[in-house]
Amino acid sequence: MDKIIKFLKALILLNYKTLKKVLFQFDPETAHSLAELGLRSLPYIPFLNDYMIKRNFITESMLSQELFGLTFANPVGLGAGFDKNATMVKSMRALGFGYTEIGTMTPRPQEGNPKPRLFRHVEEKSIQNAMGFNNEGAYTVVKNLDKVYPYNIPIGANVGKNKTTPQEHTLSDYKTLINKFKDISDYLVINISSPNTPNLRDLQNEEFISELFTMAKELTKKPILLKIAPDMEAKVAIDLCNAAVDSGAAGIIATNTTIDYTLVKNPKEIGGISGAVLADKSYELFQAIAKELYGKTILISVGGISDCNEAYRRLKAGASLVQSLSGLIFEGPSMVKKINEGLIELMKRDGFNNIQEVVGSDLKNNKE
Ligand SMILES: Cc1cc2nc3c(=O)[nH]c(=O)nc-3n(C[C@H](O)[C@H](O)[C@H](O)COP(=O)(O)O)c2cc1C
Repeated sequence: MDKIIKFLKALILLNYKTLKKVLFQFDPETAHSLAELGLRSLPYIPFLNDYMIKRNFITESMLSQELFGLTFANPVGLGAGFDKNATMVKSMRALGFGYTEIGTMTPRPQEGNPKPRLFRHVEEKSIQNAMGFNNEGAYTVVKNLDKVYPYNIPIGANVGKNKTTPQEHTLSDYKTLINKFKDISDYLVINISSPNTPNLRDLQNEEFISELFTMAKELTKKPILLKIAPDMEAKVAIDLCNAAVDSGAAGIIATNTTIDYTLVKNPKEIGGISGAVLADKSYELFQAIAKELYGKTILISVGGISDCNEAYRRLKAGASLVQSLSGLIFEGPSMVKKINEGLIELMKRDGFNNIQEVVGSDLKNNKE
């Protein structure tokens, strides 16, 4: 009870240093449920919600851009996996996010892997998760979205196959999911890069990807992006992304978590690692992909981003947008505001007038 009272106090005072100390006393999944409770409640506390929007949601025209026919007020989005059931969509503007990605949702509800399946590597500001697409299923998530439509920021629906769906019926799962979410989301993401669904990453091959996006194109005109893993040779990733784009993908999200367990001192032998230790690995693969695909499609960079310098590095390398998840856990609700304010400073320092000039500027400079 004491812990809960401390948690609520810290939440109201928005003091994340204190809140984190309390949250980190709980096991990571309980801490996440508490954060979810707070964020679900936020829209019902209008003075706090409005205060947080005013404080955290940066409306500076330098950061605003139109992509997929949508306005992104700033380039920082929430990575998939934090809001698996779309219960917190309405509060993401109060955290400052320019857009959010819900999911991964599967066609049927599923419990995910046995607990414990979520771990902190505190010193390394990193997370290891083996969640396994725990979610309430497409039907319930669509109902949750219906309740908060129209949205106050763009929202992406990240979808994946059920664990029990045989590999040969995978296409049918993605067909169901695209049909369910195409009218209620602003963009869709095909997730075949989670390490926590057996054999899912095997689908990261050109033949399947071409088949998938060719099918998807017939179902909707909504932008559908492909999210890839970081544990691939650059050449393999580039070929895969090219196959996706040539078959109709509207963009690439790189990257998901890594199974390179050498990155942390005390790894668990399950799941994927995210956060600070993923930054360079994720950046390097992103950069290699951007060199080939920048200008041909929209690129989103994710993996170890929690400050303005890392976000700026990704934008300059060719990312139109970035995402963060683990960073939110370690840095708290003011992270996005700090990233965006920092980006404005860096842009002014380097003489950029707007974000479009920043995106891909490393590549443009090299071409000159
Ligand atoms: C607890 C947790 C759950 C995640 N679940 C998903 C998921 O369901 N679908 C997905 O595409 N990515 C998922 N991810 C990966 C993130 O979206 C992101 O790609 C990855 O964590 C790297 O970004 P980060 O270093 O900012 O966390 C998850 C990550 C974490 C830490």
